[in-house]
Amino acid sequence: MKHLLKMLDLSTEEIIDILNLADQLKYELKHGIPHNHLKGKTLGMIFQKASTRTRVSFETGMYQLGGYPLFLSSNDLQIGRGEPVQDTARVLSRYLDGIMIRTFEQKEVEDLAEFGNIPIINGLTDFSHPCQVLADLMTIREFKNSFEGLKMCFIGDGNNMANSLIVGCLKVGMEVSIACPEGYRPAQEVLDFANGYDCFTITDSPIEAAKNADVLITDVWSSMGQESEIEKRKIAFNGYQINDELMAVAKPDAMVMHCLPAHREEEITTKVFEAHANEIFEEAENRLHAQKAVMVKLMAK
Ligand code: CP
Ligand code: NVA
Repeated sequence: MKHLLKMLDLSTEEIIDILNLADQLKYELKHGIPHNHLKGKTLGMIFQKASTRTRVSFETGMYQLGGYPLFLSSNDLQIGRGEPVQDTARVLSRYLDGIMIRTFEQKEVEDLAEFGNIPIINGLTDFSHPCQVLADLMTIREFKNSFEGLKMCFIGDGNNMANSLIVGCLKVGMEVSIACPEGYRPAQEVLDFANGYDCFTITDSPIEAAKNADVLITDVWSSMGQESEIEKRKIAFNGYQINDELMAVAKPDAMVMHCLPAHREEEITTKVFEAHANEIFEEAENRLHAQKAVMVKLMAK
């Protein structure tokens, strides 16, 4: 494993290895056991979109590993004024030991990996959010002990989260059902992958998808960069909500997760959100541990 660009690139063994290391690093942090695996290393963090969790968890995580994180806003970098990503990659490779990037196009992340010669970590693109899904898998395993026999149901937009969850959950052996409106389905590349699994289903009916689910997940109806479509999307996604009606058809002990930020009373009711705040905020915390594991796997050489 040289980079973390998208879930499609990871083998099941690589995913499980990252999750095992994430559990260990979480234990070490909680017990005050030093884990300076990245002493003296530097991570550049390029942000072309806003962030709370990704920025703070990478920055803190790098510090806890003994390394040094550099926050690089695209507004301040020459990349924001049109310097090609190919050149940025070749320059930054000479200063840094790794780059985390949050941007729009997946191609930009793939180009950084192709033209640079240091590990690249995708901190969210329009296509995927692998760091979040590794944290989600870590959280599911923490609450349910194993992935065996579990069904994950995603309700809403076939966006970066849906794309990554479908692939990640199928790779660790879970059953996956997706409910999204026509016209807002996951990427074709992801559907092509998922259609190879008998335990994958896609429907436009949230109730159908949620039946017997062990884990229910949703995300915002409008992602970053889709601000001009908000009103249109509110109409398209009406009814694609995790609420009591959906919870009633899921397993009685079903977990609910959300990558955050959440829009209460849109994709999830306040009541369900607060009833499952325990899982949702553990999921947010696990970003820190899962990303530390990714950085150690990629950069501790
Ligand atoms: N879930 C997530 O990636 O949050 P941020 O946008 O705050 O980084
Ligand atoms: N789908 C959301 C996820 C935010 C963490 C977005 O891309 O804005």
